[in-house]
Amino acid sequence: MSRDLLAPARPRVLVLPSAEAVADVARAEVLGAVDDARGKGRDPVLGLATGASPRALYRLVADAAPDGGLSDVWAVALDEYVGLGPDDPHRYRAELLREVVVPWGLDPGRLLVPDVDADDLDLSAAVFDDRLAALGGVDTQILGIGRNGHIGFNEPGSSWRLGTRRVRLSLSTRQANSAYFDSLDAVPLAAVTQGIATILRARRLLLVATGAAKADAVAAAVQARPTPRCPASVIQFHPQVLVVLDDAAAAGLEE
Ligand code: F6R
Repeated sequence: MSRDLLAPARPRVLVLPSAEAVADVARAEVLGAVDDARGKGRDPVLGLATGASPRALYRLVADAAPDGGLSDVWAVALDEYVGLGPDDPHRYRAELLREVVVPWGLDPGRLLVPDVDADDLDLSAAVFDDRLAALGGVDTQILGIGRNGHIGFNEPGSSWRLGTRRVRLSLSTRQANSAYFDSLDAVPLAAVTQGIATILRARRLLLVATGAAKADAVAAAVQARPTPRCPASVIQFHPQVLVVLDDAAAAGLEE
């Protein structure tokens, strides 16, 4: 990160009329990042959020990629739940295999996810950051945003200095994510997440948000004074950020 931490700047924000248009602009951004990395002689490394926000984007990338055209791409998870069984389809590893690795034709050996089955999660989180560094870092990190302003599973109050680590999920995050599970009780209590320091090391950040439920969090992230109370507001310190929103998610922004 080359920007002075004391000098936040307004990220580039694109507001589009529909979720489909958001996915389309984000797709162009992701494929541009892939070309860019190749142009510099590197295998592209993409950081991938899970959940609803990037799903349409992932589908459009799959449609745009010719057979085998993305086989040099590394896919790096943003986070992973702790406490789910190895074959649980809610694991983010399973979701990324379904939504990205298979449709994009990636080599599953190029999917990097924190090892949440290790006895020592501190160690496995540090190993994840080391492996990420050994890959040369993330070219573009795709982010969603939680209604409480989280990025990855860095909940409000998270330190901006921390790398990948085990975290407890807040009740509001578990309630939001219970939509993807049978009940609130089925939602894990903990996760391993890339830390904010890890996320900020990506060369570019691409944050996508759609829907009115994200409007307050987006306004706090993009236009309010950065604060750990809104973890996503840290993106104002990154030199290469693109935020792509639909009208509903942008409703809290001032002109
Ligand atoms: C997912 C992640 C989370 C989500 C956020 C928004 O890997 O790290 O930060 O991006 O919770 O989730 P959706 O997109 O499901 O609304």
